[in-house]
Amino acid sequence: MAKEKIILTGDRPTGRLHIGHYVGSLRRRVELQNSGEFDKIFIMIADAQALTDNADNPEKVRQNIIEVALDYLSVGLDPAKSNLFIQSQISELTELTFFYNNLVTVQRLQRNPTVKAEMALRGFNGDATEDNKAGIPVGFFCYPISQAADITAFNATVVPVGEDQEPMIEQTREIVRKFNSTYAPVLVEPEILLPDNASCMRLPGTDGKAKMSKSLGNCIYLSDSAETIREKVRGMYTDPGHLQVSDPGKVEGNTVFTYLDAFCKPEHFDKFASCFVGKKVSFEFHSLEEMKAQYRAGGLGDVMCKNFLFAVLDDTLAPIRERRAKFEKDIPYVYEVLRKGTEAAREVASQTLAAVKRAMKINYFDPGVLDALIAEQSEKYR
Ligand code: TRP
Repeated sequence: MAKEKIILTGDRPTGRLHIGHYVGSLRRRVELQNSGEFDKIFIMIADAQALTDNADNPEKVRQNIIEVALDYLSVGLDPAKSNLFIQSQISELTELTFFYNNLVTVQRLQRNPTVKAEMALRGFNGDATEDNKAGIPVGFFCYPISQAADITAFNATVVPVGEDQEPMIEQTREIVRKFNSTYAPVLVEPEILLPDNASCMRLPGTDGKAKMSKSLGNCIYLSDSAETIREKVRGMYTDPGHLQVSDPGKVEGNTVFTYLDAFCKPEHFDKFASCFVGKKVSFEFHSLEEMKAQYRAGGLGDVMCKNFLFAVLDDTLAPIRERRAKFEKDIPYVYEVLRKGTEAAREVASQTLAAVKRAMKINYFDPGVLDALIAEQSEKYR
């Protein structure tokens, strides 16, 4: 039998998901789900990982579980094809983490560039001394190990994530190799699946800052109303040098065009041709290249570009918003999806844990093992 193709991925429930998540991962997940190429797909709401740097705010994590679940369902993740579950409810994962802890050094964790960057961002950068009271929570420091448990518990072969997660997958692969060579070959080494083209990479914030992030207040959320999106697009960062409509404009680093790169399809030019009909000037474009060329040459104003961007964004987001509204009216269904998904996921994780314990010879009371153990020790003490 060919090796099963299994996906595992997930998100920390620390906020509603935004269009950066959509472009960077959610859109791809739905495609992978519908490709029929995978035997199993596990999508995890990583609440336990979220608590590693939100220990004092469990209510925030709790509230956002439902937000993320609603976002998942509304983008088209289908519980019949993708197993949606909640990380903390699978205690097998913490048990695996505890055993993997022995296979990783503090020095190796300290070299993880994503953890380093996150520590700097959160002020966790050092000992808990006088000028650096925060210190590094142990759970946070070790979360790459727990992430290895998440991935290996489900025998994932493919982990679709953004490039910031590359160090986690690399560390998981090391843990797998170390475990398999130390004990027995029971864990599966996963491959990372990175977003496949430039427009799938990180979407900047509406203010043009490199990252869309809740704390910067520069996000467009999947759950935003059309009006809110219109407002956010209106205030978007463009080319600060483009003062007069007639001035040549820059497309590179212009957030409106970056978003168009990510969302615009050729048919949008036909569908939303009216956006380019003005009182003084009108344009007829057939492709984003043509539109960009005009912007560079001058004469195409930001207002027209933004009206078009809004139409393009809403073309994708309106159906998501409508599905969300439907699921919001059926919260019991959403929790039932999570409960059932978690139950099924636990079943798989417990099989992996059993195999791990067998490999580590810590399965003393397994059927057959106890008898052999009694015989062996009795012999020794006879
Ligand atoms: N670290 C991921 C994030 O920050 C979430 C996550 C937790 C995850 N466990 C995972 C992703 C396992 C992929 C596989 O969003």
